Amino acid sequence: MARITAGLGCSHVPAIGVAIDQGKTEEEYWQPVFAGFEKSRQWMRQANPDVIFLVYNDHCTAFDSSVIPTFALGAAAEFEPADEGWGPRPVPVVRNHQIMASHIAQSLILDEFDITVMHEMQVDHGLTVPLSVVYGQPEEWPALVIPMAVNVVMYPPPTGNRCYNLGKAIRRAVESFDEDLNVVIFGTGGMSHQLQYKRAGLINREWDQRFLDHLTTDPDGLAQMPHIEYLREAGSEGVEMVMWLVMRGALDDEVVEVHRHYHVPASNTAVGHIILENKG
Ligand code: DHB
Ligand code: FE
Repeated sequence: MARITAGLGCSHVPAIGVAIDQGKTEEEYWQPVFAGFEKSRQWMRQANPDVIFLVYNDHCTAFDSSVIPTFALGAAAEFEPADEGWGPRPVPVVRNHQIMASHIAQSLILDEFDITVMHEMQVDHGLTVPLSVVYGQPEEWPALVIPMAVNVVMYPPPTGNRCYNLGKAIRRAVESFDEDLNVVIFGTGGMSHQLQYKRAGLINREWDQRFLDHLTTDPDGLAQMPHIEYLREAGSEGVEMVMWLVMRGALDDEVVEVHRHYHVPASNTAVGHIILENKG
């Protein structure tokens, strides 16, 4: 059967993708950001997942205000990169495990998580930047990717608790798929950042670090955190962090934190990253 062996949380700051694409990773500003991902790249080589279940948010690329699915699962054969701002990144097309994605769609819906199933979808920096930081610039992505887009862009986003419980349902879906596959789940977004209005530029290091502590050791407690705390403490875009709870929900209650990286600044945000392994 398929198994989720580990989870990876990662910021998806678009400027990080641009730094990779334009060969700027050794520049003074970016060097400390990328130094913290060196261990992650080694870890990925060793973990060598067959499939990445990648939880991220779309930033008005695949969706606009005419349709806002709360949870959208990618069931297409492949997903073309596209983006706002800097435009589509020069990265490989993202290939799906389509049979597994269909199984997960069925399992989630029958498990009472009424997700939207996407038979066509473009993917933006929310999905491609975390792949680039762990894989660099390969010709093809080394793993198949099942994308799940979560609405955190337009009110109302799902609660942290809903995301955490969705993670548990994703685990049940993966573990009922009858093929021996090593699956790693990603949660992207965060850390603290606010891109607009009076509090633009907000960064809250202490809160971010506490979030990472609790993600590892007290996910049940963290799942109870209300949206207003994310907004107040981590800024309006800090609410992206509810997606890390989907990742955490898909792991064991007790996990091993094998790596953490935190750096300020990168563009307008704090960069946060964590790798959690199941013990079994
Ligand atoms: C920035 C960060 C994000 O997470 C995002 O989606 C867009 C922009 C930024 O730092 O500029
Ligand atoms: Fe974002």
